[in-house]
Amino acid sequence: MSRFGLLCSVALIAPVVKAQYQIVKDYSGSTFFDDWNFYGNFDNLTHGNVNYLDEIDAFHDKLAFTNGAGNVIMRVDNTTDVAAPQNRNSIRISTKDQFTVGSLWIADILHVPYGCSVWPAFWSSAVEWPAGGEIDTFEAVNNESMSTMALHTAPGCVHSPNAVQSSTLINQTDCSTDINNNEGCTITNPTLASYGAAFANNGGGVYVTEFAVDGISIWFFNRSSIPSSIQGNASSVDTSTLGIPVGNWPASNCTVTEFFQPQQLVFDIALCGDFAGNAQIFAETCSGVCYDDWVLGDPSNYDNAYFEVQYVRVYGQPGELTVIQSGAQRSLSLRSVLAVVVGAIIGTIMAL
Ligand SMILES: *[C@@H]1O[C@H](CO)[C@@H](O)[C@H](O)[C@H]1NC(C)=O
Ligand SMILES: *[C@@H]1O[C@H](CO)[C@@H](O)[C@H](O)[C@H]1NC(C)=O
Ligand SMILES: *[C@@H]1O[C@H](CO)[C@@H](O)[C@H](O)[C@H]1NC(C)=O
Ligand SMILES: *[C@@H]1O[C@H](CO)[C@@H](O)[C@H](O)[C@H]1NC(C)=O
Ligand SMILES: *[C@@H]1O[C@H](CO)[C@@H](O)[C@H](O)[C@H]1NC(C)=O
Ligand SMILES: *[C@@H]1O[C@H](CO)[C@@H](O)[C@H](O)[C@H]1NC(C)=O
Ligand SMILES: *[C@@H]1O[C@H](CO)[C@@H](O)[C@H](O)[C@H]1NC(C)=O
Repeated sequence: MSRFGLLCSVALIAPVVKAQYQIVKDYSGSTFFDDWNFYGNFDNLTHGNVNYLDEIDAFHDKLAFTNGAGNVIMRVDNTTDVAAPQNRNSIRISTKDQFTVGSLWIADILHVPYGCSVWPAFWSSAVEWPAGGEIDTFEAVNNESMSTMALHTAPGCVHSPNAVQSSTLINQTDCSTDINNNEGCTITNPTLASYGAAFANNGGGVYVTEFAVDGISIWFFNRSSIPSSIQGNASSVDTSTLGIPVGNWPASNCTVTEFFQPQQLVFDIALCGDFAGNAQIFAETCSGVCYDDWVLGDPSNYDNAYFEVQYVRVYGQPGELTVIQSGAQRSLSLRSVLAVVVGAIIGTIMAL
């Protein structure tokens, strides 16, 4: 290993525990959708019975829009009688930008999609999956009463027994995509206000996801318990004001810089598919056959299958690179090449 390489690894391993973040990106109002890509394809990833519309069709069919209150709606088609073997139209979007380790995102949500066959999620993923990791902040299926959160990674990352979190409902501790049918290291958000009609009836809530070198943490606050430090349009966030997170995956058992690369945020609403459509899981809260009895025919089952979002904001640490803009990969790799060249020159000079 070169001298420069050694210096590099030391810098990466050194603990950089910072709790102070500043806003770098605001997705809200009429410009919300400007910086997201629409999937525009059938669900070729999780086998859901959906067509994820492209941007033009999504706006035209009014499955994605900003409503009169300035909130963002993303929904499943609830106007079409779908006939076999067709899929139902829905939305899947991901941010054009990627966010590095050392960032934090807050989503203020008034309503999440729910009902039999419905599988909504607000999550993040690296471009390279599973090598670059996935963080699920909010995920739920069918008529369940609580949502879950999880990490999905390459083998070697587990949920630590020393995690500092409020949830005692730990479903799986191994985050590897290779085992447990890729369930991930899943934790249940132990409040009825985390999904379904109960979430909406409480005015929804706020999810905070911290993607830090020392670990990944998720907080959930219902509408009446949002800390004053993140009310309004907070330009900075100090995570020490948020209390104990509901879910926490310390780096001691999952080296964040090893298992995670920059993340793109994603909203999607699948129907049936690998999770909601799994016969055993489906039967836990719904009757009949997922596709035949719910996706097909009468669309009124989907009147509640929508996200209503006030904002998504991303924060970073002052002086650090947080946002990797779409199309910036080339200049970034150019910068890495330059760094290696400069490092090699310094190494040579030092060796002399
Ligand atoms: C899914 O479809 C998209 C868009 O056509 C394509 O880019 C991608 O490679 C497909 N993925 C898989 C796993 O088939
Ligand atoms: C879903 O759950 C709610 C509340 O528990 C219940 O009232 C409703 O009947 C359930 N719906 C179905 C389709 O099972
Ligand atoms: C996770 O655990 C909770 C509590 O034990 C349980 O209600 C829920 O069904 C489990 N979820 C999954 C996806 O296994
Ligand atoms: C909202 O959260 C607070 C704090 O966790 C809790 O005491 C309260 O019962 C919750 N309200 C509802 C309606 O769930
Ligand atoms: C919130 O603040 C950010 C930057 O501080 C700004 O770009 C954004 O427009 C604000 N959003 C609202 C809804 O006021
Ligand atoms: C978690 O990390 C601790 C400390 O490094 C180690 O002793 C323990 O075996 C790990 N637990 C698991 C489940 O990997
Ligand atoms: C679709 O659901 C929305 C509520 O989410 C409702 O306002 C609308 O009337 C429904 N559309 C139809 C055709 O029933």
